[in-house]
Amino acid sequence: MSLLNILRYPDPRLHKVAKPVAIFDERLKKLAADMAETMYAAPGVGLAATQVDVHEQVIVIDTSETHDELRVFINPEIVWASEEKQVYDEGCLSVPGVYDGVERPARVKVKAFDLEGKPFELEADGLLAVCIQHEMDHLKGKVFVEYLSPLKRNRIKTKLLKEERELSREKKRATAGR
Ligand code: NI
Repeated sequence: MSLLNILRYPDPRLHKVAKPVAIFDERLKKLAADMAETMYAAPGVGLAATQVDVHEQVIVIDTSETHDELRVFINPEIVWASEEKQVYDEGCLSVPGVYDGVERPARVKVKAFDLEGKPFELEADGLLAVCIQHEMDHLKGKVFVEYLSPLKRNRIKTKLLKEERELSREKKRATAGR
């Protein structure tokens, strides 16, 4: 297994739309395993393939505190969402250090395939429901900051771009000092 590089907002590749997976093979299993390892190492509770620059409909989620409830969703689809909404403070591995409230349906029923290509359905609430919807947005090219006001979004963009410039300066300095 290997750690994958996570794209950071506002990288334009985060806005690509993922294609459905057609072949359930070893390559797909390796991708899901690498994504899980990357998510646990970050650490985070969910990761979409879009975030590691693979534009296929693959999501890994583990909302357990013990990190032993890995769920993999291939080609996920929301088949039902509750009228009832909940606001949850969301964060994202592609938007480090930023947390803000997003309103979404409180419960959803999702249909997806597992790594063997077997279909399954799952009804989720609480953090799992938030996570499924957040990661599915990534597959559509949508980052959670797009739910926030343009003012907030621009502040986040400026902050992350500044951090990235500082990081690359540090990297250059480290190389020069070698
Ligand atoms: Ni995210």
